[in-house]
Amino acid sequence: MQKQETIQVKDKTFAISIPELELKQQIKRVADEITRDYAGRQPVFLAVLNGSFIFAADLLREIDLPCEISFVKLASYQGTNSTGSIREVIGLNIDITDRPVIIVEDIVDTGLTMAHMLDTLKGHNPASIDICTLLLKPTKLQVKLDIRYCCKEIPDDFVVGFGLDYDGFGRNTKDIYTIIQNQ
Ligand code: IMP
Repeated sequence: MQKQETIQVKDKTFAISIPELELKQQIKRVADEITRDYAGRQPVFLAVLNGSFIFAADLLREIDLPCEISFVKLASYQGTNSTGSIREVIGLNIDITDRPVIIVEDIVDTGLTMAHMLDTLKGHNPASIDICTLLLKPTKLQVKLDIRYCCKEIPDDFVVGFGLDYDGFGRNTKDIYTIIQNQ
């Protein structure tokens, strides 16, 4: 897609906020940190679909280690108990027992998704688990999370692009866009 200052996704307008070049630079920085920290080990990257598909592709190509990648998804369904929506990790088709795992996520907002993912993965007895996220909204976090790798912290505004969506659309831009308020 062509670079544009503003884009329309369904009924909302978004303005460019993180250009492609900055994203690539931050992804390279984080990939270099992982390569350094995991020297001598063979991590398994677990990318959380759908939002992380572009980030994961860019990150992995900057990692200079023997490593594997697998893709997982969180399926939501309505439970019969009072907690309402229950999310289940599906697609984990690789044995992570005693392996160092790095979760690759597009964005951590309240952190509830990541907390749930951590709980589930711990049940598979990995050697270790680190979190690697493209974006983090620190002011929205509702749970205590140790986020070891973060490309960029952003304010509490809704963003799209570079894999992130608004109602399924807007994933296919090279830059990240922030919603224009008061529309
Ligand atoms: P959390 O459980 O509140 O941390 O939400 C995490 C998930 O919500 C992410 O994986 C995204 O799918 C979605 N999400 C949160 N904030 C945004 C945003 O600004 N744009 C697009 N998706 C978002």
